[in-house]
Amino acid sequence: MNSFDVIIIGAGAAGLMCAAVAGQRGKRVLVLEHADEVGKKILISGGGRCNFTNLNVLPKCYISKNTHFAKSALSRYTQHEFIAMVARYGIAYHEKTLGQLFCDGSARAIVAMLLAECALGQVDVRTQHSITNIAHADGMFSVSTNHGAFTAENLVLATGGPAIPKMGATGFAYDVARQFGHKIVEPRPALVPLTTPPALLPFVQGLAGIAVEAVVGISPHCHPERSEGSPRVKGSVQGDPSLKLRMTSPPTFRENILFTHRGFSGPAILQISSYWRHGDSITMDMLPNVDVLAYLKTHKQSRPKVALKTILAQVLPARLAQALAEQYTTSPMATFSDKALAAIAEQIQRFQFTPSGSEGFNKAEVTIGGIDTDGFSSQTMESRTMKGLYAIGEAMDVTGWLGGYNFQWAWSSGWVAGHALST
Ligand code: FDA
Repeated sequence: MNSFDVIIIGAGAAGLMCAAVAGQRGKRVLVLEHADEVGKKILISGGGRCNFTNLNVLPKCYISKNTHFAKSALSRYTQHEFIAMVARYGIAYHEKTLGQLFCDGSARAIVAMLLAECALGQVDVRTQHSITNIAHADGMFSVSTNHGAFTAENLVLATGGPAIPKMGATGFAYDVARQFGHKIVEPRPALVPLTTPPALLPFVQGLAGIAVEAVVGISPHCHPERSEGSPRVKGSVQGDPSLKLRMTSPPTFRENILFTHRGFSGPAILQISSYWRHGDSITMDMLPNVDVLAYLKTHKQSRPKVALKTILAQVLPARLAQALAEQYTTSPMATFSDKALAAIAEQIQRFQFTPSGSEGFNKAEVTIGGIDTDGFSSQTMESRTMKGLYAIGEAMDVTGWLGGYNFQWAWSSGWVAGHALST
């Protein structure tokens, strides 16, 4: 039998959730997956333990051209509903930090749970099915694959975004959405390490592997098209005051940064990368708990003969303290003028650099941008112009912060669509 009520393309987080819900509502559901295994990103997520949601899911933790779009789905299927399902399946979990919930054991338990839910709904899940064509006529979608053609009144695009192509990630959903007249918000890599310009490379390479807690922010460059993210403020382009822009004021993140061989990574950098555009500078306070200038002045008085690196090493990792101190020809604290100490404090608390780029989709955890939400209902995830066409999960222009927010969007949008599917 090749005729179904709904065909879902993509057996990832969103697709499996949608399939389970629709199947349990009595719909005849087919899931087509081109990889040899379902839920591959779930399996590798959270270092193999899947950070499956966050206790503090809030709309401000999502980036989209339309910052309101995600609200409805997130409030109808919340993190608490997903946590209850995890608990029902006896999957042990813990909060790691900042509300992030991880499995105690393998992420396989989450995939097994989703497949068990699909089995309850008698969902037909088929792997290694490559889609060769999609057409729509007389109210029916027909999907051609390397294993034959299938038809359904409803088609759900759940193929995620292009982050990590070696795992089977594609921009397939964008092509299909375009085919049916939808727009795409330019996809960009997000939650991704940033690279430093050549002049800064020797400094960061010498410190590769070191992590420090920092407050990381952005000094934005004006981008006329910038409109995603949280609180918007009005601004104007320098030299053209008549052109009013809607610019974002990106949040700051207080978490670890990691020095790498190519630049910076670590949770705070991954978070800010989602707001970063070429030309923007990154600012870092690498000692947010300390008034560094006051600290240095105090030690200049109390320990004048002690080397700068020793004083810095009391509050920073030794290698970082040494690298900062090496930039000065003098060493005992007494030899530093207050102006020099202010410059050192500035370098630690207002460290600023303009990234040369990011490590791209090969290293990105998610995609910013995607199918423009303008053409879809936030209540149902159905296209406003193409009846029966749905798009869910990362394929949509909705991107969460690091910390379980992206899976929650996949669960919530999948659940909403699974409930809305008609026929
Ligand atoms: P997802 O990518 O899960 O699924 C899409 C499916 O469609 C895949 O199975 C893919 O093979 C299939 N597909 C693609 N093209 C196809 C085609 N043409 N035909 C058929 N099938 C096709 N998030 C989070 O909240 N917590 C975390 O801990 C992590 N950790 C993490 C680690 C790493 C390394 C990455 C890369 C990502 C994360 N994420 C994360 C992000 C999270 O994995 C991601 O946001 C969700 O998996 C998105 O769910 P979707 O179902 O939308 O896409």
